[in-house]
Amino acid sequence: MRKKLVVGNWKMNLIQPQAVSLVEALVRKIAVTDAVEVAVCPPYTSIGAVAQALKGTKISVGAQNVFWKDSGAFTGCVSAPMLADAGCKLCIVGHSETRGRFGKLEIDADDVGYFAETDKTVNQKIKALLYHSLMPILCVGETLAEREAGNTDDVIRRQLEGALAGVDCSELGCFSVAYEPVWAIGTGQVCDSKEASRVCGMIRKTLAGMYDQETADAIRILYGGSVKGSNSKELFSQPDIDGGLVGGASLDPDDFATIVLSAV
Ligand code: 13P
Repeated sequence: MRKKLVVGNWKMNLIQPQAVSLVEALVRKIAVTDAVEVAVCPPYTSIGAVAQALKGTKISVGAQNVFWKDSGAFTGCVSAPMLADAGCKLCIVGHSETRGRFGKLEIDADDVGYFAETDKTVNQKIKALLYHSLMPILCVGETLAEREAGNTDDVIRRQLEGALAGVDCSELGCFSVAYEPVWAIGTGQVCDSKEASRVCGMIRKTLAGMYDQETADAIRILYGGSVKGSNSKELFSQPDIDGGLVGGASLDPDDFATIVLSAV
C-alpha cells in the first residue's frame, strides 16, 4: 500500500519571513497524521529558514531544481549535497517550467534556452539525487498540442525512458513521478480525474516494463495541475493517483491544508 504524498511547489514566490509564516500556519492547520506524507518546496533562498521552522514536525522540505555535479565552477548552480546540507529530503526534477515548455514568455523560450533542461539533464539530476539519498520527483506531461495530436502517452513514455536511462531498479528506493499536463498548470483547467488516473496507470505500466511490477507498484505517482481543495478529494480517490504536486494552492495555508486532509 503506497502512502499518499502531497507536495507544495512554491515556485518563485515568498521571501523568508513570508515563507516561515506560511509553514507556521501549515503546522497549526495540518496535524499531520502518519496516513499522508507532506512536503513543501520553497525557492532556494528560503530552504534553510523553512527547514529550521519545520524542525521536529512531520513536514519535509524539498527543492525545485538541482545541478548534477557535486561542486565546482558552476556559477549559479546548487548541488544535491548542498540541498541535503540545507535540510532537503526531496527535489523536483524536469518541471515543465524548467524544461521551458509553457506559454509565452517576454523572451521566446527557444531564444533563451531557458534552463536548458532536456531529458539528458533530467537524467543526470536524478542520478545525482539518488546518489545523495534525496527523493527525486520527476515531472512528466504533455502540452496541449501534443494531447490534441494524440501523442500524450508517447511523449510521457519518452520522458520516462530518457529520465531513467541507466538507472538500476536497486537505486529507485525513493523515487516518485508527477504527471503534470502542461495545459493544466496554473490555468484552473484541471485534468479530468479519470483521465489523470488513466495516464498515471500508463506511467506505472511503463515503469513495470522498464523495471518490474514490484518496483513500479512501490513508486508514487502524483498528479499536478490546478489541484485545489475543491477537486483534490476526487483526484486522490482515483486508484492510480498517489497524491499531488500543488502549485498556486500551496501558497494558501487553508487550501493546502484542505488538499492534504483530502488525501488521508
Ligand atoms: P498549479 O497547481 O498552480 O496549477 O501548478 C502545478 C504545478 O506546476 C506544480 O508543480
